Amino acid sequence: MTSVNDLVVARPAETCDTDLAEGPWVFDTVPGYGPGSSELDVIPEPVIRPGQLPPAYQRMDEAELHARIAAAKETLGERLVILGHFYQRDEVVRYADFVGDSFQLANAALTRPDAETIVFCGVHFMAETADILAREEQRVILPNLAAGCSMADMADEASVEACWEQLVARFGTEPDADGRVPVIPVTYMNSSAALKAFCGRNGGIVCTSSNARTVLEWAFERGQRVLFFPDQHLGRNTAKAMGVPLEEMPMWNPRKELGGNSPEQLDDARVILWHGFCSVHKRFTTAQIDAAREEHPGVRVIVHPECPMPVVDAADETGSTDYIRRAVAEAAPGSVLAIGTEINLVNRLAAEHPDKTVFCLDPVICPCSTMYRIHPGYLAWVLDGLVEGEVRNEITVDEHVARDARVALERMLAALPQPLTGARA
Ligand code: 13P
Ligand code: SF4
Repeated sequence: MTSVNDLVVARPAETCDTDLAEGPWVFDTVPGYGPGSSELDVIPEPVIRPGQLPPAYQRMDEAELHARIAAAKETLGERLVILGHFYQRDEVVRYADFVGDSFQLANAALTRPDAETIVFCGVHFMAETADILAREEQRVILPNLAAGCSMADMADEASVEACWEQLVARFGTEPDADGRVPVIPVTYMNSSAALKAFCGRNGGIVCTSSNARTVLEWAFERGQRVLFFPDQHLGRNTAKAMGVPLEEMPMWNPRKELGGNSPEQLDDARVILWHGFCSVHKRFTTAQIDAAREEHPGVRVIVHPECPMPVVDAADETGSTDYIRRAVAEAAPGSVLAIGTEINLVNRLAAEHPDKTVFCLDPVICPCSTMYRIHPGYLAWVLDGLVEGEVRNEITVDEHVARDARVALERMLAALPQPLTGARA
């Protein structure tokens, strides 16, 4: 009989981190986040303590896990909704009621007010956002609490507050003759609830990779400059596409006075970029694009905007995970598409579209190792808990944080030109 460990080991042998081949529960006992984090990460306080997966669930084989998850779903019925991000492994995606990008999943949480419990198969900031937007009676569960996001950890609340103090000391808070305040804070969805709340309190807003341009337009109407965190690449790629020159996008290094900038650089700034990045998307290079074009003349190259600017510039298109999904789905049969994003999504798209050639730009298999920590073992454990009346791994955002964070999220929703669309099953 196939065991869960066999299943995990049977995934592609060539990975960027061999630790990924082991059961994700080994991380339960490791302080911090383990290999999902880069060495530059600031580990937030308090550190998210991993929930310990009972050994019985670690030993269960695929068939038993499937039977348990299916039975629990059946028992819980409409009281339960399972959300899955596109980067989740297939063994988890198969159980999701909705699969989508981070924006669609936030929306899916909103559009299922009848569900008592939202089980979020994604990473911590996504589950927090669902809790902020959910009704008070709803609860949100993250099956493995060690599923964080190393990029989100690169901007902690204290460092952003310290940055803000320096910017306020330099520019004050008074609007200019056009009514524009000196700085508008914009946080990427990939950030803690505390930073979304910071934006809510300080006239700022949240964006996702699918609406960053609209959000920056909103911010430029109201502010002379933007402080964009934590992802420098999404900020730079979006502002550059809007015509902001690179000289007007200084980087803020939280370890340095004035972020390592001269006062004049900050005076001239249109977008101040936080020194954060995604370790998965940072792996993509222009050399990979050159190789793909060489090997497949006419290939269409599509990358996520978390990729570095030279990669986005060399690609044919850039967009969110859902943009990529749609582009592949709508491409003509016979198309060849090279994709710059996380491997679970790319492999799924390739399998779903056998009439097209879809491959990852990076020849080394590099999953988002924190997304990967959601394993069917954890899903079965939290669902069994619900059936038994025990809530495991609940994510709760304090109401005083949630209230301010909701302000920033609602500004984002209000800034969007069209009504929200639901995520697909
Ligand atoms: P999307 O908003 O495109 O789903 O991206 C989320 C993410 O974490 C990408 O790394
Ligand atoms: Fe975070 Fe990168 Fe993983 Fe997205 S792919 S969740 S940004 S670490």
